[in-house]
This record gives sequence, structure tokens and C-alpha cells, in this order.
Amino acid sequence: MKILWNDKIVDESEVKIDTEDRGYQFGDGIYEVIRIYNGLLYMEEEHLERFFRCADKIRLTLPFTKEEFSQRLHRFAEEVGIKNGRLYFQVTHGAAKPRLHSFPDPKEVVPVLTADIQEISRPMEKLTKGISGGIVTDKRWLHCDIKSISLLGNILALNEAQENGYDDAVLVRDGIVTEASSSNLWMVKDGVLYTHPDGELILPGITKIKVRQLANQLGFKLVEEPFTKEFIVEADEVFKTSSVAEVTPIISINGKNIGDGTPGTITKQLQKAYIDAIEETVKKM
Ligand SMILES: Cc1ncc(COP(=O)(O)O)c(C=O)c1O
Repeated sequence: MKILWNDKIVDESEVKIDTEDRGYQFGDGIYEVIRIYNGLLYMEEEHLERFFRCADKIRLTLPFTKEEFSQRLHRFAEEVGIKNGRLYFQVTHGAAKPRLHSFPDPKEVVPVLTADIQEISRPMEKLTKGISGGIVTDKRWLHCDIKSISLLGNILALNEAQENGYDDAVLVRDGIVTEASSSNLWMVKDGVLYTHPDGELILPGITKIKVRQLANQLGFKLVEEPFTKEFIVEADEVFKTSSVAEVTPIISINGKNIGDGTPGTITKQLQKAYIDAIEETVKKM
């Protein structure tokens, strides 16, 4: 597999990461996942914007501008040549010696970028049949808006849901539904869409931006306010959104059917609108 390693494209066997890299030792880094459809890096601008915003939040000075970085990613995508897949990239604060908790002087460290592209296809079975959710207490930290490579909180939550026999976690903090383990969560009640507002308790999803636009275009009322776990279990429809999961229906929570236990009408309308929007953008390329 080819890796973009800082400004070079190399074979994965050539990559050398210092054992004192702050990403390796502290999880001190950020990442992004961009879906590639037909060679198009979908919503690239929004992903890069979030990436640069998150870099600021962790006091990481990126050694390139957004434009330079975009060119680098495009050169990489062209060389790899995968037309349908996902681009993963991360930047860490780099290696600082000796190991100290405090952020290193930006003049003394070089951030480390790595990226790879892997082929993936749309999760058709989950998109058509839906998945199950299980309520898990959201015990993550209070900077969930940072797309940090430290994902242990999310991994523990997913694992807890799966150990209980569910496909994904419906995270609940102080009685309020926040998001899923690696997606944003939405519900529908009496024709109205609900999702948790952006802020420090969830990751502001790029798919969420698109689904918000589509919901508006389709004329649905959308309420971005906190709602309770009692409210979501009584929902008519529930779904989750992410770059990889797209608009995935959640058809039961804690074993109780949502609606009639099949993907709901509004969910299906948004799924279609989402893929139509991608096809439109691909056509304009
Ligand atoms: C915790 C969390 N929330 C939401 C999302 C959805 O983000 P996006 O739509 O940008 O893929 C992700 C994606 O990885 C995530 O990890």
C-alpha cells in the first residue's frame, strides 16, 4: 500500500515513525476520513476546514496551507488511482525529546503527516436493512468536537454496545442523546427531525452539514436541540450519518423496535437525496 508520508509518496514498508512521536505516545494528533466517489473527494473543502480548525484547537501549526495540502492530497489520490474508497489522513505533533506532557515549542518539532487510500464500497446491506443500537453511557471527554486520534472513549462505547449484542452505541450523557460511536445521530417524531446541536459534546459531522441542507431542501422541520433517551426510544425513525455510513437507519434500540422495525420513509428520502447529491457533484467534475 502507498502512503503519503509528509510530502513524499512511499511504500508502507518505508515509513518510519519515531517511537517518541507524540501521536504514538499521547494520541496527540488529529485525523480526517474523506469518502472518494468516482474519483471525487466528496466535501473535501468542508473536511479540510474542520481539519485546520481542529489543528488550531490542539495548538498544532500545520506546515502547509489548505491549498497546498489539497494539492498534495490530489496528487496522492491520482497516484494511488482508487476511484471508490476512503482517504484517511492524520497529523501528529511530531517527536519531541525528552517525553514531556507540555506542548513542544513549534520551532523544535516537525508535525508528522500520514495518509492512505483504501477501496471501500457503500454499505448496501446496512443501508437497506438498517442496524440495531444499544444505549451506552457517554463517558468520553468534553472535547468531542476535536477529531482527535485518541479514540479510546469511542472504541470502549462501541465495544460495550457490541458486547450487549447491538451493532452500534447510542451515546447518552446526563440523560441526553449525543451521537453514535463514530457517526451523528438523528431521530424523527411526527414528521420533525431532531439531532444534537454542534458544540463540545459531539463531532460536527460533514455528512451532518449535507443532510441538514437536504432536509431543508425537502422541506422538513429540523430541531437541533438536546433530546432525551426516553424521547429517542419512542421515535418514529432513527438514523445515523457519517462519511462512510452515509445515512444508515437504526431500526431498534435496546431490542425495542423503532417504528415498525424497518427503515423509515423520511430516512429513505434522505438516503436517496444524499446519493443523488453525490451523483450530481460527480457529474459536474
Ligand atoms: C464521533 C463521530 N461523530 C460523527 C462522525 C461523522 O462525521 P463525518 O460526517 O464528518 O464523517 C464521526 C466520523 O468519524 C465520528 O467519529
